[in-house]
Amino acid sequence: MNKSGKIRRVRVKLGCRSYWIHIGSLQKTSVELGKLISGRGVLLITDANVEKTGVVEDVLEDLSGASDLGLIVLKPGERTKTLGAVEDITGFAARHNYDRKSCFVALSGGVGGDLTGFAAGIYKRGVEFVQIPTTLLAMVDSSVGGKTGADLPEGKNLVGLFHQPAGVFIDPEFLRTLPACEWRNGLAEVIKYGIIRDGEFFEFLWANRKRLNRRGADADLLGAVIERCVTIKAEVVAADECESGLRAILNYGHTFGHALEQLSGFKLAHGSAVAIGMVLAGRLACDLGIFDRESADRVEALLKAVGLPVSVPAGYAASDIIEAMKGDKKNEGGRIRLVLPESLGRVRITSEVSEEKLFEFLNRQV
Ligand SMILES: NC(=O)c1ccc[n+]([C@@H]2O[C@H](COP(=O)([O-])OP(=O)(O)OC[C@H]3O[C@@H](n4cnc5c(N)ncnc54)[C@H](O)[C@@H]3O)[C@@H](O)[C@H]2O)c1
Ligand SMILES: [Zn+2]
Repeated sequence: MNKSGKIRRVRVKLGCRSYWIHIGSLQKTSVELGKLISGRGVLLITDANVEKTGVVEDVLEDLSGASDLGLIVLKPGERTKTLGAVEDITGFAARHNYDRKSCFVALSGGVGGDLTGFAAGIYKRGVEFVQIPTTLLAMVDSSVGGKTGADLPEGKNLVGLFHQPAGVFIDPEFLRTLPACEWRNGLAEVIKYGIIRDGEFFEFLWANRKRLNRRGADADLLGAVIERCVTIKAEVVAADECESGLRAILNYGHTFGHALEQLSGFKLAHGSAVAIGMVLAGRLACDLGIFDRESADRVEALLKAVGLPVSVPAGYAASDIIEAMKGDKKNEGGRIRLVLPESLGRVRITSEVSEEKLFEFLNRQV
């Protein structure tokens, strides 16, 4: 990847809560970052894996305009996404006298980003925060849109709030150190954007599938891919910030995916589960006569080409999958809500598929 690549900027339009997403070398966007934090108390939150990659020192330097600069290094992984971690972050801020003008900065994947946003949203009734995502998933998805939160022992993301960041700084260089499995997790979400909202982007991904299949995809390709994804996310969020309608299309592949993830005891990676979920949603849509087989096959082919699984692993029962799907917090009125493709670039949200139909369908897939 080359450090001299261009800087791309995308605006998330949310009235007084609008903000910029900057994509490109952090060295080149540090002026904008500096403006957001200048003269304020800044608390940088990262995790131990990110710290090992050696980027923290550089980012601390970019934050040197802060009046006070603290660092919290979280234990990596979803298990850290607890109210205890939120208490640790806010407690640290309180002990070090961070005031209401402070700014929290997340330098991490989605786990640290969600926790930082949540802590910022509640500390002293809300301080600003900035996202510097370090995983592909966080770059194309979790760092944008203001959903923040933590898990409870009872389930994932059960507590949290909408709190928009003041800015998002995406440096694709950070992906160099990302493990292959985390790379694929992000790619599943990337492909999701093409299917839900942009057929041309799907074609672009297909044309570049061999280059995407590599961890070291070049800066230009990555910049373009990330820009398209965050542009789509920004549009959807601007149209429906608190998920009363359209925003639910972002859950394409996730109703089936979350069920599979949960049934695997979270051994199945999120991206793999979502990939299988997207394939299932496509096949079901074909069964219902709203999506064509050729497009469904192309979705499968692209997912396969980037190394993602496309069928339900052995040992899952249709009835268990349905039970797990019923527990999805996005359901309303007890009916399972699904996002089904109509064409490459267009999906519909429906609660009209009966449990009997779903059972009959899933029974043929397991
Ligand atoms: N807020 C939202 O809108 C939203 C959307 C999607 C997902 N999420 C949440 O995001 C979380 C998943 O995010 P994730 O996949 O980024 O997980 P993560 O933050 O756990 O990161 C995945 C792994 O990669 C490591 N890592 C991060 N950056 C690295 C780097 N540059 N080099 C090497 N290793 C690195 C981490 O330490 C971790 O082990 C989930 O909790 C999910 O609920 C939130
Ligand atoms: Zn996801």
